[in-house]
This record gives sequence, structure tokens and C-alpha cells, in this order.
Amino acid sequence: MRDANRIVAEVLCLMLDTVAPGITTFELDLMAEDLCRKRNSVPAFKGYHGYPSSLCVSLNEEVVHGIPSRKRKLKKGDILSVDFGVCYKGFFGDSAITIPVGKVKHETHQLLKATQKSLELAIEQVVIGNRVSDISRAVQEYVEAKGYSVVRQFVGHGIGSSLHEGPEVPNYIQNRGQSPRLIEGMVIAIEPMVNLGTAKVKILRDGWTVITADKKPSAHFEHSVAVTVDGPVVLSSRDEFLGY
Ligand code: MF3
Ligand code: CO
Repeated sequence: MRDANRIVAEVLCLMLDTVAPGITTFELDLMAEDLCRKRNSVPAFKGYHGYPSSLCVSLNEEVVHGIPSRKRKLKKGDILSVDFGVCYKGFFGDSAITIPVGKVKHETHQLLKATQKSLELAIEQVVIGNRVSDISRAVQEYVEAKGYSVVRQFVGHGIGSSLHEGPEVPNYIQNRGQSPRLIEGMVIAIEPMVNLGTAKVKILRDGWTVITADKKPSAHFEHSVAVTVDGPVVLSSRDEFLGY
């Protein structure tokens, strides 16, 4: 799973280097799939419940599951959430980042920073004996204290020899009793989706693209994290590619 997630991290680094005004989301998808196949892995989303592409690319008010398109050209001030997963030797990796295209509005930049920070706080809770709800609480408390809202219709998940496994990892506290405990060897994909406006989302007629109901921007960051005796291990970390 480390190897699978390393490929995902490398592809997201390529996206960080490539995203710029003028490029289409279709071109990004081709580049991601190319690198993925060069690393002897298979894009995990392509064909998943009929999803047509390798990447999910969600622009501005799009929350998740935006479909790459030859007609969508990035422009200065956009934010683009890029979500990517692979299967390598039977194991899955899954990670997402939201990338600013050129200079973005201050409030948009703050939204990205807060969403990334909420993921970091969530990861700190990935400790043997904690419950999934400790992760959910970490995200929700931080995000809502900043005045943003957390998407409820979509959640994080266990990951392993399938892309989506138990347990579900919501980014908000559910009042339905105790959530599962984290046990050694579990790997979970934690993926806060944070809206500048209200939490409400809807799905476009393409059957995939999730957008905010109020059309305000939304950010998404995701890591696949292992539960170990040494604490959280961020399998999809990009550190080794960025040199920090
Ligand atoms: N990272 C997303 C998830 O964990 C990607 C799934 S998109 C799909 O759910 F196309 F594969 F459905
Ligand atoms: Co995921």
C-alpha cells in the first residue's frame, strides 16, 4: 500500500507542477494516466461504477467527482481539486489536493489552508485505540470554528485490496452511538471536503459532478493513512518528492 500510495503522491506532485492557466483538465487526466501506467499501476477510478476517467477534477464550486473535459481550460483565480487513486499489485492508494491556479482570492486561499490543516489535525488522531469519531471531531471542530462547513453526503473510507472498505470516515460527528475503534494495520483514507458557504451539495446531470448548492467554492484534501504502533503513517505523503 505504501508503493501504491507513492505512485499517487508522485502523480499529484506532477499535477502541482503542471496546473497553470490555459491547460485543460483533459490534458491533466492524460498525464496522470501516463505516469500511473509507467509505474506499472492501474488508475483506480476509471471504470469504477462507470466513472469515465483516471482523475477526478473539481473546479471552484465543484466539490468532488468532476469529470476531466477537453472544454475546461483552467484560468487564473480558479481552484482545482485533483483526486487520484491507483491499484498496484492488488493494493490501492488514494489521495487528493486542491491546487490554486495562479493567484486566488484571499478568502479562497484561506479555505484551502484551513482544509489542509483540518486533514493534518485529523491525521494526528490516527492512533491505536482512538475511534473514527476522534478523526471526525478534529475536522469538524476546526473547520466550523473558522466559519466554514463540512460536506456530509460524502465521507472517507477504509482502503486496502479494494478502493472503498470499512470503516466509513465522516468529517462530522454522527449521533448514532460509538464509532469503530482504530486498530493496528488498518489503513483509512481521510478526506475532508470543506465549503466556504453552506454544507449543502447537489449532483449535476452527468451523474457524477458534486457542486455546492450556493455555488461558493469548495476544497478537498485526502491522504491514505496507516494505523501503526508508531502512530499515523501517511502513506500518500508527497514529502519525498518535494524535498521537505
Ligand atoms: N477519492 C474518491 C473516493 O475516495 C474517488 C472516488 S471517485 C470514483 O471516493 F470515480 F472512483 F468514484
Ligand atoms: Co477516497
